[in-house]
Amino acid sequence: VKIAWINEKGGTLKTTLATHSAVFFAAFRGENTLLIDMDPQGQAGKSLGYVADDGPTISDVLLGDADLQDAILETSIPNLYLLPADKSLADVPGRLYGQADVNGRLKKLLISQRKYKNVVIDSPPSIGVLTRNILSYVQAAYIPVNLSFLSLDGAAEMVQTIVASRKELGNNKLKVGKVVPTLYRRTKLANAVLERLEQHFGDDCAQTRIGVSVKVDEAQSWGRTIWQHAPRAKASLNFLELMEELYGKATQDGFALLKKSNR
Ligand SMILES: Nc1ncnc2c1ncn2[C@@H]1O[C@H](COP(=O)(O)OP(=O)(O)O)[C@@H](O)[C@H]1O
Ligand SMILES: [Mg+2]
Repeated sequence: VKIAWINEKGGTLKTTLATHSAVFFAAFRGENTLLIDMDPQGQAGKSLGYVADDGPTISDVLLGDADLQDAILETSIPNLYLLPADKSLADVPGRLYGQADVNGRLKKLLISQRKYKNVVIDSPPSIGVLTRNILSYVQAAYIPVNLSFLSLDGAAEMVQTIVASRKELGNNKLKVGKVVPTLYRRTKLANAVLERLEQHFGDDCAQTRIGVSVKVDEAQSWGRTIWQHAPRAKASLNFLELMEELYGKATQDGFALLKKSNR
């Protein structure tokens, strides 16, 4: 699949869910997967333990200064590859300004690749050239929504943006993956927001919601997924349940495989 996690709000779990999606495909399905970091903060890479070096990044590839394959890194997880980002990505839209087909760069680079069965993209917290590049390429955009009162408006807007992009960017394969409720706690407010989300989005809303867990933060500080850091924790099963709802069942024991790849 070719998918992205997208929301113009920060802190909705885009990065966390993009990395866990990519690791799910790689470790629980055994499929070659490319994780592309399209956020200048570079947190998708960081949360998997990647430390920035002088090598080429997504910026160089988008600007035509490096080959795609030269910028892609092998990770410690079998089948998982990373195309990292750094803060230079923030300047890429300006540097592309005025050139032809600015929104179609990423698609052009990836369209003919056959090596990766899945491409998973982490998005910046804004709608601009980078996001339009993502929406020109992917088949599905998943929208994580944290369960706070103000998130509701944003979610509806995000769905509209995706639907409009189909025509505006000429990507008729693009669909809204699911709206995924995140940072759920058992409070009155969270339950009320969840209920409205489900009412508004119906089947487009995932059944599984991601609960609040400090273990996820902890895992990322070690450069690991929750499945490596605390495989038996509730959060670990919670993330796996969401992945299986969105993408279908695991076909192999990802926990065993990840245990072996733990650094
Ligand atoms: N289940 C969770 N419970 C609590 N905090 C979480 C959970 N999952 C991720 N986080 C933390 O929430 C913060 C925001 O998540 P992140 O994925 O970076 O969001 P975004 O990419 O949308 O800005 C991060 O510090 C991350 O470690
Ligand atoms: Mg992020």
